[in-house]
Amino acid sequence: MLKARESVRTLKEYHPPLGNREGLRLDFNENTVGCSPKVIEYLKEKLTADALTVYPEYIDAMRELAAYFAVAPGELLLSNGTDEAIQVLINTFVDDGDDVLLLKPSYAMYRFYAELAGASVREIDYAATDLEFPLDEFIAAIRPSTRAILIANPNNPTGTGINLDAIRRILEAAPQAAVLIDEAYFEFCGVTALPLVRQYPNLFVSRTFSKVFGMAAMRCGCLFSSVENVRWMHKAQSPYSVNMLAALAARAAIQDRQHVALGLAPPQRVFALHRGHGLNHVRAPNRLHAGLRESEVPHLTFHNQILDGARDVLDWHLRIHAVLIQQIDDVDLEPAQRSLGDFADVRRPTV
Ligand SMILES: Cc1ncc(COP(=O)(O)O)c(C=O)c1O
Repeated sequence: MLKARESVRTLKEYHPPLGNREGLRLDFNENTVGCSPKVIEYLKEKLTADALTVYPEYIDAMRELAAYFAVAPGELLLSNGTDEAIQVLINTFVDDGDDVLLLKPSYAMYRFYAELAGASVREIDYAATDLEFPLDEFIAAIRPSTRAILIANPNNPTGTGINLDAIRRILEAAPQAAVLIDEAYFEFCGVTALPLVRQYPNLFVSRTFSKVFGMAAMRCGCLFSSVENVRWMHKAQSPYSVNMLAALAARAAIQDRQHVALGLAPPQRVFALHRGHGLNHVRAPNRLHAGLRESEVPHLTFHNQILDGARDVLDWHLRIHAVLIQQIDDVDLEPAQRSLGDFADVRRPTV
């Protein structure tokens, strides 16, 4: 029998949902509203037998996406979702045994790809009391040997974020490291490090079409950095990892700014949808926590998750209302902080 590489043998398995997910899906931060109808129209128009015979061509998508994000095409790498962006970044800049600094809890794929590459991963805990970014502790943990730092801003699953001053401090404390600011939820908070890319050669920023654009199934993302860094990453990337439909869908999605605004507006449609599943929406995080603790009435929020605990309440939800939520078992938080905030939280960077 063949033996897998050491890093694969010791890797903690990630179990994504593969089916049976009927109901209100709050477990993997998917968009519960849907993508722009214009994306669907455009894909139907372009989907022909002849079009499928051709390897994907990215020139138009690159030009239009670069214009949308206000960068030069050379500063943009198109990727098969943020996941591939993380993988390409690690494969390009991290060697076996290198030090990689993360936060906990955060998006699972940072650790996954870093460990797969054989890196030595360290994690700094989000503050157990208020789930805020532990800025001073994190900066103190950066070593001259640290080769990559991966941060979600705002973070999944805490919903908390950092501001540009904090990001600058991290970039300046780690000039030797590739620092990724994963902005998968940028549209929900409005803080972006993208304009800093020309100032900091160690900065990488990622965006995705999986969240506010509602196209997680398409697997399309963008990774931004200096032209030199993008050139290296391009070299390390599979040439056709973004399929032709994903590139077309991204082009159509950025044309429909109204649809994105709809997803971001006070989400009455989303609330109505959730109420249809028997969920009460509570915008104030304190009431949310109180609701979970005291009334035992489940209060869930859009684009967020429940951390740990309250398993019986959540199971009840699963059974009665077909609402899917995610259990995260390896995080030790104060009971009062177990459920997370909502839009109000992520709109306001606090560090
Ligand atoms: C912080 C963060 N980054 C990235 C992703 C995944 O993005 P993509 O679908 O583009 O791979 C998620 C998905 O939940 C996420 O929470």
